[in-house]
Amino acid sequence: MSIKVSYKVKPQLLIFLSTISFSVFAQPEWREVANSVWKTTIGNQQSLTLLSAAGVVPKLDAIAGLDKVPFPLELEKMNFAVVDGKSYLRFPLERDEEIYGLGLQFQTHNQRGRILNLHVDHYGGKDNGRTHAPVPFYISSRGYGVLIDAPQYITVYAGTGVRVAADDPPIVQDRNTDTLWQPQPYSDAVEILVPAEGSDVYVFGGPTMLNVVQRYNLYNGGGYLPPKWGLGFTQRVPTLYTAQDILREVQEFADHDFPLDFIGLEPGWQSMAYPCTFEWDKGRFPDPEGLITTLAEKGVRANLWLNPYVSPTASLYDSIKPFSGTHTVWNGLVVDFTLPKPRDIFRHHFQKYQLDIGVSGFKIDEVDGFDNWLWPDVARFPSGYSAEVMRQCYGLLLQKMTADWFYQINKRTYGLVRASNAGASAMPYVIYNDYYSHKDFITALINSSFIGVLWTPEVRASGSAEEWLRRMQSVCFSPMAMLNAWSSGTKPWTFPEVANEVRDVARLRMQLLPYLYTAFARYQQEGIPPFRAMQLESGYASLRGLADAPSITYQYMMGESILVAPMFTGDSIRRVALPPGKWYDFYTGAYVGNGDWITVKPGLDKIPLFVKDGGIIPMIEARNQAPRPDEKLTLEVRKYGTAPGSYLLYDDDGVSFDYEKGLFSWSELTAKLEDGKWECSFNPGNKEAFNYSEKVNWKFFE
Ligand code: GAL
Repeated sequence: MSIKVSYKVKPQLLIFLSTISFSVFAQPEWREVANSVWKTTIGNQQSLTLLSAAGVVPKLDAIAGLDKVPFPLELEKMNFAVVDGKSYLRFPLERDEEIYGLGLQFQTHNQRGRILNLHVDHYGGKDNGRTHAPVPFYISSRGYGVLIDAPQYITVYAGTGVRVAADDPPIVQDRNTDTLWQPQPYSDAVEILVPAEGSDVYVFGGPTMLNVVQRYNLYNGGGYLPPKWGLGFTQRVPTLYTAQDILREVQEFADHDFPLDFIGLEPGWQSMAYPCTFEWDKGRFPDPEGLITTLAEKGVRANLWLNPYVSPTASLYDSIKPFSGTHTVWNGLVVDFTLPKPRDIFRHHFQKYQLDIGVSGFKIDEVDGFDNWLWPDVARFPSGYSAEVMRQCYGLLLQKMTADWFYQINKRTYGLVRASNAGASAMPYVIYNDYYSHKDFITALINSSFIGVLWTPEVRASGSAEEWLRRMQSVCFSPMAMLNAWSSGTKPWTFPEVANEVRDVARLRMQLLPYLYTAFARYQQEGIPPFRAMQLESGYASLRGLADAPSITYQYMMGESILVAPMFTGDSIRRVALPPGKWYDFYTGAYVGNGDWITVKPGLDKIPLFVKDGGIIPMIEARNQAPRPDEKLTLEVRKYGTAPGSYLLYDDDGVSFDYEKGLFSWSELTAKLEDGKWECSFNPGNKEAFNYSEKVNWKFFE
C-alpha cells in the first residue's frame, strides 16, 4: 500500500521563491522482487539507473535458494520525501550497528559516523566518497543492506545528522562541566540526499552480512567467473614497447621460468593516445595479427589499454561525432554510450581490428577522474542525460559494452577498469588506480567485497627489495596478479636478491588455481566474494568482543578456508585475528590458535596464510601458465586439521561460456578420521567438463 502526500507550499517569508514542491512518501510500497530483496521507487522513476546501465539480470533462482527472512527494517522509522526536485531518504540505525560499503574506501571499513559524497573519481587520499566505485550500497552489521539505485552524486550522512524528533535522541551534554562532552552527538539514522526527483531503493535481507552480500551480488547477475588464464600472472609493458620488445619480454619470462598468462599493452600500441585512435601504430606494430598469433602460440594472451576519448585522427571520428557530448577530454570526443548507434560503431571497429585477430581483453583507463581532466558537469550529451549521470555511469557503460562483445563470440575475458558503480558484480573487470599505498591497497581489497567489485593491489615499482617482495606477495593473493610496468619497466626479477622468493609466490598462486577458480565459481553461482572481509566470516562478531582487540585490519579470506595476512615493509611480526575454530599454518600445518589474536613472525619469504580446521585445498603442480582445456592434471589435495572436511571442486573448459549449457562439473572431496586413519573420497562430477585425473594425491597437515 502506498500513501503519498503532496503539498504545494508558498512560504510566506521566502518571497523570492514562488513555489516549492514537496511530496512525502509516508509508507511507500515495498515489492519483494526476489527472495528477501525488496524494492520501492520514491518519486519519479528515472529512465537510467546504475543497475540499468550495468544491464543486470538477477539470478532469481540462486537467490531463492537462500534463507527467507522478514523485512529487516521498521517501516515507521523510515522516511522518504521529494522536496524541490531532490529526494530525501532516511533509514534507522540501532546503537550497536556498524555500516560497511558505501563505495571503494581505502582507509576505513566501518562508515558509521562519516559523511560521504558518492562521486566517481580517482581516489584522492581521503575516504570522502570520491572514489573509483562510489557504490551507494551499505551493509549493516545487523544483517541487512540498502541500495540507492540512482545515478547522481549522492550524499550519505551515515549516522551523523541529529534530528529534533530523533527516535533515539542523544544525551544533551554541557561542555563547560562535562569532560566527556562529544562534538558529534549520537545519531540514530542514515540519511541520504539524492539530487533527483526520484530513486529506486532496495533492501536486501540477511540474516548474516555474507547473505546480504550474496543477495546483492546475485541480484546483479552473480559474480564473474574469469577464464582460467585470467587468474594467472600478468605483466604490463612500458608504453612505447614495440612488437619485438613484447616478444623479447615474453621470452625473458620463459628464460626466468616465471609465470605469464597475459601481457598488457599500454597506450603505445595505438597510433595516438590521449586522445585515442584505437588503431595499431604501424611503426611499432607492423603486423598486429602476427604478433597476437605468435603470442597465442606461446600461450600468452594480449590485453590492450585504452581510454575512450576519440582522437580527431581516428578513423571512426566522423561517424561518432554526432553521438558525442559538447566537451572533449584531452581533445577527444566523449561518446554518449547510452545510445545504441555509437555502441554499434565501436563494436564494428573493435571486432575488426582487435577481437577478430585474437585480442583477449581491455584495460579501460581514465573513466573515473580527476575533475580537471574529465568533462565538466556543464557538458551536454545527445541522449539528454546530464554530465553528472554520465560520470556516474560511464565506467559501467564501457564495462557492459565490451563484456557483451566477448560474450557474443563465446570467449571469456578478464580486464581492468578504473571506474565502476552499483550493478557491477557480473562484470569481467578488476579495478586499479595510480595511488600506490600498499596498506591502503589491502584495505581497498577488503572493502571491495562489500560492494560487488574486484580490486588489484597492482605492483609497479619499489624502493627496496623488501617492499618489492611484500607487494608481490600481496598481489599474488588478490583477484589479479599484476605487475604494471608501464612507466617503470620493472620485471618480477628486478630485485635479484628476492627474485627466487617472488617466483615462489607467483608459482604458489599457480598451484592454488583449482582452489581459486572454485572460489570464483562460487562468486558467480552463489554470490560469495572470492576475496572477502573478515566481517563476512562467521564468528566475526565474537572476535570483535575479544579483550585487547585492536581493530581487525589488513587481513582477509581467500576462498572457503584460507586467511591471508599480508606483511608490509619494515615489519617482521604482525598480529592476526583468528575467528573461532582451530586454525593451522598453511605452509607447515602447525596449529596456530582458535578465536584469538596471534602474533606471527613469518620471515621475508612468506606471506602469512592460515587454514581453517577441516579445510581442503585442491592444488596442482607449480607451472607457468593456467591449464588449457585439453589438459588433464593431477590434483594434490591438502587437508588441514583434525575435523572432517568436505569440499566441492568446480571445473569447466576455463575459456568459454559453455558452462551455461551445463558443461561444468562439481566434484566432491571428503576426508574423515576413522580409527585413527584418514578415510578420503573423491567423486568426480560431469566427466565432460572435468580436467583432472581421477587419482588424487592427499596430503595431511595436522
Ligand atoms: C594511467 C594508468 C596507468 C597507465 C597509464 C598509461 O592513467 O592508471 O596504469 O595505464 O595511465 O598512460
